[in-house]
Amino acid sequence: MADPGRSDGPAATALRERDRFAQILVLFGRHGLKGLAARLGVGAAREEPLENARPEAVVALLRDIGPVAVKFGQILAMRSDLLEPEWVDALSRLQDRVPPLAFDVVRPLIEEAIGGPIESCFSHFDEKAIAAASIAQVHAATLLDGRDVIVKVRRPGIERIVDADLRILRRLARIAERRIPEIARLKPDELLRHFAESLDREMDLSAEARASDSIGAFLKDMGVRTARFDWELSGRRVNIQQRLRGVPATDLEAARRRNLDLTALASTYAQAVLRMIVINGHFHADPHPGNVFFLDDGTLGLIDFGAVGTLLPRRRQELVRLGLAIASEDTGGVVDILMLWAGDPDVDRIRLEEALAELIDRFSNVLLEQIDLGDIFQRVFTLLREFHLALPPDLALVLRTLLTAEGFVRRIDPTFDIARELAPLARDLMRERTSPARLRGEAGKLLAALGRAALSTPSLVGQIEKVARTGSITVTLAPRDLERLRAGLGASRANAQLYPAAFGISAAIVFASEPLLAALLALLSVGLAISDWVRRR
Ligand SMILES: Nc1ncnc2c1ncn2[C@@H]1O[C@H](COP(=O)(O)OP(=O)(O)O)[C@@H](O)[C@H]1O
Ligand SMILES: [Mg+2]
Repeated sequence: MADPGRSDGPAATALRERDRFAQILVLFGRHGLKGLAARLGVGAAREEPLENARPEAVVALLRDIGPVAVKFGQILAMRSDLLEPEWVDALSRLQDRVPPLAFDVVRPLIEEAIGGPIESCFSHFDEKAIAAASIAQVHAATLLDGRDVIVKVRRPGIERIVDADLRILRRLARIAERRIPEIARLKPDELLRHFAESLDREMDLSAEARASDSIGAFLKDMGVRTARFDWELSGRRVNIQQRLRGVPATDLEAARRRNLDLTALASTYAQAVLRMIVINGHFHADPHPGNVFFLDDGTLGLIDFGAVGTLLPRRRQELVRLGLAIASEDTGGVVDILMLWAGDPDVDRIRLEEALAELIDRFSNVLLEQIDLGDIFQRVFTLLREFHLALPPDLALVLRTLLTAEGFVRRIDPTFDIARELAPLARDLMRERTSPARLRGEAGKLLAALGRAALSTPSLVGQIEKVARTGSITVTLAPRDLERLRAGLGASRANAQLYPAAFGISAAIVFASEPLLAALLALLSVGLAISDWVRRR
């Protein structure tokens, strides 16, 4: 590992990097991965098939290389669209837990951050860490005014280690991308670039405080609380936050003993995760039970905003298109989006369309309560792998967050149906954006927006119509309204008839019954589309 004490400068950095590279090569050998090293052109010129690189060996190698490699492995563990299940299984065993630093080391870091001795700020400071990960460790303390807080301290020297190891990993990735087609397919350089960005945010403990506050403001009205941060005492290296009191969501036994309404909590949690992603566009990207509390006042607490994700408006629109295409069984439209996401790879389009049609057909007529989301995901992942259709990293993060959430609610309540949570979300999306009062006030604006949206998404109305016609939504969509909508959207100037038409659609959807997955996707898509039009005003 890089020595934080050494002097810096380009020459020293290069030297350190060479040493580190040599060290890593030794590790390749130790785990029986000389063949891989050779193919990377960094070991002895010995050709060995890549199949010899067993997942367990590579995972052990990552563990030995250190925290950056471990964290990268954890990211890869979420990529079922890229990696076979045996790799995903092995990688998900990686743990970013390390022995805590002694308090002698931690004390000066805290005193520097608060600008004085510990006693000048805290009436009590727990010297034993609650948790220690590779980037930071966490202590409980009490401020002089009696408030219980959590103090997060970044490990000293971690910046340099992260820097050096990221550079080496990126170098290896670039070589691999040139020399090993099996690895090039995974676009390791793009993966690492995205990884480096999120690592950078995680290294800045004040970014966690900002994310917690801004996302917390969005969650407040939903019965979800986040810890208040102490801004004066928080910076890049240390942050201080209110200590939440409650049952950790990892301890379901304790929750049951206290007679907490777990089904209600699961629903609040699912709504929070979905709405953070779909409505807020800025979301907690690691909502596993270890980061969730059932609070004493019956609300839910969410901590640990080190990893956050963003759903850009452009992606949101792509998801809308995908949702409508799936719901209307338009496999060509689905293929277009998947190809766009994968960077237009060279695939057999006809065969892909066939495979998709089969998949969509399998699920399109199944009642929602009979749909097994896990099964759907497995099949979709297999298809993505087979056709080399990798997801862009930002969407992979959305998906991972949803899968984490789904795993969590299933643990709380095995009969819980996350897809069902989409219905009220879709309804709210449209109610919020198209309530009669709001529409009256904003009719003009909405019309102009609809007109513009039509220019950028001319097939949208056609899609909505197709969805309605396939009967997958049991709605009464007045043909007259649809006509008007189409006429209005086709016209170059926004048409005043659009307003009742848009309202007609939303009203119809609100009364949709017999929810099928396709219908839900369509609902959500239309909701998102409408709210986008309005928002773009
Ligand atoms: N605001 C908080 N209130 C109560 N406990 C907390 C709070 N923040 C952190 N903790 C405790 O510290 C542990 C580690 O903190 P966390 O922010 O999740 O960091 P990481 O998981 O990245 O190490 C949590 O699992 C929790 O037990
Ligand atoms: Mg955590």
